[in-house]
Amino acid sequence: MLDHGAPPRTPPTESVPAVRDSLSTRLMRRKPVELLVAEGGQGEGGTLRRSLGLWQLTMISIGATLGTGIFVVLGEAVPKAGPAVTLSFVIAGLTALFSALSYAELAGTIPVAGSSYSYAYATLGEFVAWVCGWCLILEYGVSVAAVAVGWGQYLNELLDGTIGVTIPAALSAPPGDGGIFNLPALIVVLLAMVVLLGGARESARANTIMVMVKIAALLLFCAIGVKGFQSGNYEHFMPLGMAGVSAAGATLFFSYIGFDAASTAGEEAKNAQRDLPRAIMLSLVIVTALYVLVAAVAVGARPWKQFNDTEATLAAIMKDVTGQTFWATLLAAGAVIAIASVVLTVLYGQTRILFAMSRDGLVPKAFSKVHARTGAPRVNTVIVSLFCGVLAAAIPLGQLADATSIGTLFAFALVNIAVIVLRRTRPDMPRSFRVPLSPLLPVLGFAFCVWMMGSLSLITWIVFGVWMAVGLVVYFCYGMRRSRLARTEPGAASTAAPAEAQK
Ligand code: ALA
Repeated sequence: MLDHGAPPRTPPTESVPAVRDSLSTRLMRRKPVELLVAEGGQGEGGTLRRSLGLWQLTMISIGATLGTGIFVVLGEAVPKAGPAVTLSFVIAGLTALFSALSYAELAGTIPVAGSSYSYAYATLGEFVAWVCGWCLILEYGVSVAAVAVGWGQYLNELLDGTIGVTIPAALSAPPGDGGIFNLPALIVVLLAMVVLLGGARESARANTIMVMVKIAALLLFCAIGVKGFQSGNYEHFMPLGMAGVSAAGATLFFSYIGFDAASTAGEEAKNAQRDLPRAIMLSLVIVTALYVLVAAVAVGARPWKQFNDTEATLAAIMKDVTGQTFWATLLAAGAVIAIASVVLTVLYGQTRILFAMSRDGLVPKAFSKVHARTGAPRVNTVIVSLFCGVLAAAIPLGQLADATSIGTLFAFALVNIAVIVLRRTRPDMPRSFRVPLSPLLPVLGFAFCVWMMGSLSLITWIVFGVWMAVGLVVYFCYGMRRSRLARTEPGAASTAAPAEAQK
């Protein structure tokens, strides 16, 4: 699969550019789209395998999206918005929709594993691409940890409902949340790691089964929850005003994160150009419909004032409605499987993004090593899993979820800009999907992302600022010097951008 258009792999010693580009030229250097596509699948010592069709890709996106947000975070959002939380879901869904359209266009045009990182590299330059990739670690790596924490809560409900024991807080909660170490969170990440080491096709198969189970669990919740529906619960629809609705929307945005996961499978899709845009849009439509339905039933079945953080999980509502633990336990079992599939697919996405960044030289080569038999980036998978597992075991869910949202919103904002830039710089490129009414919808997508980011708390912004500062240090000390594009094309970067822009 080695393409002749790809630059040769030169050892670092031969790679000092003969002509040093200025700092701004280095930061702005763009990777040609053709080169990105030509490199598709290539790793160190092997290639990724193209084994995923539309069905599996859609399941990957649903798998990565439907999980803690609806099963756990809903309980945190209702006190902010009241019954209007349904509206918050719509607003968060609209933010996701505009960005999903942009993702669909770029995933169909540049179908590579790096997702928005690669789109930014092709359009906005290496520095912005790095910033985007660094944000994606919040979207994927940190969200794996956040989701794994939610998994532990449901595991406890399941254990309680079946064998009457729960894992003690000391071993099921992180410091700051009344515990020492979140063991279940670590375990679910390690389980996902084992599946991923088996290869993309096997992982996709396991994921598809889990997605079916979670959709069934949510439909079951709706079917039973609707019996406890009381219209009085909707009397004060928006008790905390529009500010409450938008604050809840920002929190709930977390529940939409993941629809873009299919775009990280660009180098393992059988027909990426055709299937990626479809998978992204299809998964978003299915997920939004389920969210609005579940939220409407949940606030109809329980007065909004009785939602208090993590106690108000869907399983608890089910118990209220039926008065029986059986249904709640069944739902908890569904949630355990549901959330495990988020961990699996999001972890998958993170490994593929780092794979692309590693191929570009911005992170160490170990991340793009491919195992000959399974076609999986195994070293990458182990490193990422250990990082996420430890994070999950040591940090509380709420803080992680908001940090994830802000990083994702930033990456989405960049994707919306990237669509506009690529339309201008490369209007000629074949696109299997085009955002309608461009640039209006990408501009709206950008604006929604900025609005949502503005609704997040100061502490989240501080965490984000610190994270970005660390990212800048890593880039200037490592990535900028090791960038493969700079090493293989000294001097070229300074001319590539203007030449492209003139087209
Ligand atoms: N959207 C994913 C979830 O809600 C991250 O679990």
